[in-house]
Amino acid sequence: QLLTQEIQAFNAKNADELEAFRIKFLGSKGILKSLFGDFKAVDNSLKKEIGQELNQLRQLANDTLNSQKGILESSKVKTKSNTDFTRPAEPIDIGARHPISIVKNQILDVFSRIGFTVSEGPEIEDDWHNFTALNLPEYHPARDMQDTFFIEQDPDILLRTHTSSVQVRFMENNQPPIRTISPGRVFRNEDISARAHCIFHQVEGLYIDTDVSFADLKQTLIYFTKEMFGKSRIRLRPSYFPFTEPSAEVDIYWGLQTETDYKITKGTGWLEIMGCGMVDPNVLKNVNIDPEKYSGYAFGMGIERIAMLLYQIPDIRMFYENDLRFIDQFKSVI
Ligand code: PHE
Repeated sequence: QLLTQEIQAFNAKNADELEAFRIKFLGSKGILKSLFGDFKAVDNSLKKEIGQELNQLRQLANDTLNSQKGILESSKVKTKSNTDFTRPAEPIDIGARHPISIVKNQILDVFSRIGFTVSEGPEIEDDWHNFTALNLPEYHPARDMQDTFFIEQDPDILLRTHTSSVQVRFMENNQPPIRTISPGRVFRNEDISARAHCIFHQVEGLYIDTDVSFADLKQTLIYFTKEMFGKSRIRLRPSYFPFTEPSAEVDIYWGLQTETDYKITKGTGWLEIMGCGMVDPNVLKNVNIDPEKYSGYAFGMGIERIAMLLYQIPDIRMFYENDLRFIDQFKSVI
């Protein structure tokens, strides 16, 4: 009974104490071993009773050993860990939005405020949507203006050279009034330099309704440049696009305050930011919109150009190198 009490009261503070307990009671020279040794001498009439008691005692010692071992081990995990759970967590590195996305979202935002919806289309296009419907029939010399990556020939499948292809798809599926803006990636087989790349991004806009005039186009451009750049000094230079007539190129006066301004504007302070014009009646006919009833304007701009100007990026190749030292600088912009 004394032994039972001692075992029940046992409370190991560490592994050494536990081991001492095991040796004392259950070891090869331990108390239980010797008790079982003495047991042989016990009178036969008492064997049953004492045998039971001894077995119970051994069971108790074993159970105590195991349970104390468990307690020690679980407390070991706690005491071993130095973690201070009250410390503030490591900040999570959340990355930055790419400047192309930042500027694209800004452009979409400016136009959505005057009722333009966003439309998108495939990057792999057929000849009809990229060229023919846009008043560029086969063998039209203006096809050379845009050096095309062909995927298949006859019938031609290609990487779209502009997002005007999206506008064709939109006109095929919607009736005027149409006010839509089409952002996306475009591809041209051009030599890569600080100012040009074979992959870049565009946002093109299209407005078709009754009585749309060139004055509407111009006013929209002034609104856009003012919202986007905080300045609206622009000039329109007469130009040529097969899908618009008349056509113009839009330059914005940016000034020459930094070295990058010099580089980007070639020392003039002016930068060409988009092409535009009144939608050619032939284009409307191609998508079954009545040119007698409706007119419209269209414009298209390169996102990289505008981002270079806004963020003073001197080389277009920086957009695609994914150098974290470049991208991380846009962390504060949402
Ligand atoms: N699609 C032309 C380009 O990629 C831009 C443009 C769009 C010009 C709409 C006029 C009207 O260069």
